[in-house]
Order: sequence, then structure tokens, then C-alpha cells
Amino acid sequence: MDITTSNFLYLLASICFIMALRGLSSPDTARSGLAFGVSGMALAIITTILAPSVMAGSLFGIVICIAIGGGIGYIIAKKIDMRDLPELVAAFHSLVGLAATFIGMAAFYNPEAYNIGIPGEIHMGSLVEMALGVAIGALTFTGSIIAFGKLKGIVSGKPIVFSGQHMLNAAIGLAMFVMIIIFAATESNFAFLMIILLALILGVTMIIPIGGADMPVIVSMLNSYSGWAAAGIGFTLQNNLLIVVGALVGSSGAILSYIMCKAMNRSFISVILGGFGGEQAASSVDNSDKNAKIGSAEDAGFIMKNASSVIIVPGYGMAVAQAQHALKEMVDLLKSEGVSVKYAIHPVAGRMPGHMNVLLAEANVPYDDVLELEEINRDFKQTDVAFVIGANDITNPAAKNDPASPIYGMPILDVENAGTVLFIKRSLGSGYAGIENGLFYADNTMMLLGDAKKMCEGIIKSIEN
Ligand code: TAP
Repeated sequence: MDITTSNFLYLLASICFIMALRGLSSPDTARSGLAFGVSGMALAIITTILAPSVMAGSLFGIVICIAIGGGIGYIIAKKIDMRDLPELVAAFHSLVGLAATFIGMAAFYNPEAYNIGIPGEIHMGSLVEMALGVAIGALTFTGSIIAFGKLKGIVSGKPIVFSGQHMLNAAIGLAMFVMIIIFAATESNFAFLMIILLALILGVTMIIPIGGADMPVIVSMLNSYSGWAAAGIGFTLQNNLLIVVGALVGSSGAILSYIMCKAMNRSFISVILGGFGGEQAASSVDNSDKNAKIGSAEDAGFIMKNASSVIIVPGYGMAVAQAQHALKEMVDLLKSEGVSVKYAIHPVAGRMPGHMNVLLAEANVPYDDVLELEEINRDFKQTDVAFVIGANDITNPAAKNDPASPIYGMPILDVENAGTVLFIKRSLGSGYAGIENGLFYADNTMMLLGDAKKMCEGIIKSIEN
């Protein structure tokens, strides 16, 4: 295949990837987005292995590797539980980082194969690209492994902090910067290996102080890094597709991290510096002298059956209990009784972007019933019942009323404006941010203490009877 044809096919693949990102931004176009992504990737792989630079003798090895990697990926994707997706993404990112590091090393030790000069006389531009590629790749590799360990519970999810930590990270970062300059100027093998070693260490020291629950932001940030590493290597290999795809991954990951931080009202810097989510956070609100009203599945069934409108607010606890199917059954039953039911989705409900949308789609909830915070928040005032299932922080009025609260300023779903608020959770304990929710003690709140799935099943029985 000549270079013009391969560049044209790369352009088509790039368009497919852009269409994939566009499609994946909404649940009703997600399937077509996925189809574009798969087609773009197939086109990219076929074009790459048919490129003139790939020797015919290597084809067999490449196909075997694709078959092994693709087979393992297929089995893992089939088996994975929806709740384990963030750690799977982290694990896969570690491989992207490793691949970028290996490609950079291959280019440095065998530059002729990549048309970037001969050993000892590699173009300076290529040396800089290579250094940045391996640095970001190695950092992404160890950082993603730590993120995976924290999400999986192998490494403590609590922030691991010690004095002088930020100074240490800054010193490692500075040393890496110096090594990159030495490497670009002298092509020193020692400097090259030091860049990789320092980046591997920095990946660990940067991620350990970050609490397990902040990991989705970090995974998305590492995703962004892996994209920039790929783009850097793309320049070294003079591969236009790798540059475009790397930039797409890099920028979309960065935008996603920004959106998550904004929806949590956290600055990106405060996430990176870590230390959040480990201990009970301070709050000026004391609920110790208050009593919550505890209700049963029968009470909830009675209240909702006699309501004319209900808004469901799902949260992390619904994912833990895998209650989405029982919830959908309960909603269908209420609808058959003439109750109007909608779902309200907070941008950071659960633990990953789109977490609730994915679970509701899995239970075949119609997309038209699922509304975003800005679309539905005003409706709570005219709604009889807000049914909060396994959500906590995203409803906490402290975000509006308590400047001392760590979630102060975060937009919340105004469930307290509904006639009655029903809360399903197992205890009166806190959620991800570690703060109490005064709403549990409000006059119009009834707590339904128990597992979300079992409680929904109980409510279904009570409505049927
Ligand atoms: P949380 O505030 O974490 O509250 C979830 C509640 O679910 C907990 O209070 C827990 O209470 C309850 N729960 C757990 N297991 C349950 C079960 N089996 N049955 C019933 N209830 C159960 O979740 P949220 O309201 O969805 O808010 C999300 C939080 O995560 C926000 O603070 C957000 O900033 C943070 N966050 C989100 C993201 C993304 S991208 N979504 C990323 C990072 C951080 P009990 O233990 O009493 O049952």
C-alpha cells in the first residue's frame, strides 16, 4: 500500500474516531458511536499492517499477537461486572502506558527502523518526542497500576500521605526535566534510562496520596496522559493517525476530568494533591440530637401508589445493590397505577461518568424518562415524592447551606422541595464525601433502611397487595 492510500485510510479512521466520541456522548447514539469506534480501529490496524514499512515476515507474528490480545480483551470484557469497570479501564491504561514506553525504547535503540537517524545521531526533535513519550508512558503505567490496586482494594483506598510528599514529587519531576534536557542534548543512554525510572517512581508517588473515591478523576486524567504519550510517539514514528488519535484521547480525557471536578466542585489541583475522602470531613451541622423518621416498604408503597408524580434519584448504592431491575419493575407498576415517574441524574452520581445512565439503560428504562439535573431540578417543587435510591451526597443541602462543608458549591438535586422524600440506604451513615446529610432528619423525609434491591422488591409486593 502506498503512502497516499494509507494516509487517506488513516484520515477515514480518524473521522470514525471523532464520530465515535460524538456518538458515545449520549445513550441513544452510543451504539452507533461504538460501531464507528470499532470500524475506525479495524481500519487503522489493517492499514498499519499493510504499510510498506511492515515486513512480510512480521505479519504472522503481528496477527498472532492481535489474536492473543484481542482474545484476552474479549474474555475480560464479557466477564466484567459493571461495578468493576473503573478498575478495568485503569488496568487497560497501564498497558497503553507500557506500550508507549516500549515503543519509545525500540525507537531509541533501533532508530534506523523508524527513519529517525542512526544510533548516536538521532534528530534532536525525535529525542525530545521520545523522552516525553517514555516519561508520560512510564508514569501512566505505574500510576494506573496503583489506581487499579486502590479501586480493587489491593492497595489501601485511603490517601497515603506523609510530610514532604509534595516536595518529593516536585523534586522527582524536576530531576526528570533535567534528565530530558541532558538526553535531548547528548543522547545519553543513562539519561534515557533515568527518565524512565524517575517516571515509574513518580507514577506511584503521585497517585498514592489520592483517595480511592477520587480514582475515577485520576483514571480519566491518566487516560488523558496515555493519549498525549501516544501522540508524542506518533511524532517519533511519523504516524499521522497516532498523532490524531493520541490528541483525541488526550483532550477528551482532560475535558472529562475537568467536567468531573466541576460537578464535584473540586479543583483539579486539589484532586491531584490528594488527601480527600479518607476521614470524616468537618461540617458545622450537628445532627446528633435529631431523630430520623424510619419507614417500611409498605409505607413507601402506600405513599407512592397514592402519589400523582414521583421522581427517582439513583446513586452509588443502587449500583452496589444492583437494584436497577427491581427499580424498573417498581416504576412500571407505579406507572400502571397512573403515577407519573421520571428519573433525575446528577452528573457525578455513582463513581464514574454516566454510571447511572448505563445501569438504567441495562434495565431498559426509556431514555425519555431519564433527565439531567438542569432539566429536572425545578420539577421537585411540583412533585409529590422524591424517591432517593442509594444516593446521598448528590442530595445533601449542605452543598447550598453550609460554607464549612467540603461539598459546598456542588450543584445538588433539590429533592427536599418534593412533598415527601423517601431515602433508601442501609444506615444513616455518610456517603463518599464523608459528611452527614441533614435531610435524613427533615420533617418531610422518611428513611427506608435496608438494601436497595430488597427494599424495591418489598415495595413491589406491597403495591401488588
Ligand atoms: P454517595 O454519596 O457515595 O452515597 C451512596 C450511598 O449509598 C451511601 O451513603 C450508602 O449508605 C448507600 N448504599 C451503599 N450500598 C447500598 C446498598 N446496598 N443499598 C442501599 N444503599 C446503599 O453516592 P452518590 O449520592 O451517588 O454521590 C456520588 C459521590 O461520589 C459524590 O460525592 C461524587 O462527588 C463522588 N464521585 C463521583 C464520581 C463520578 S464521575 N460519578 C467520581 C468520583 C467521585 P449506607 O452505607 O448507609 O447504605
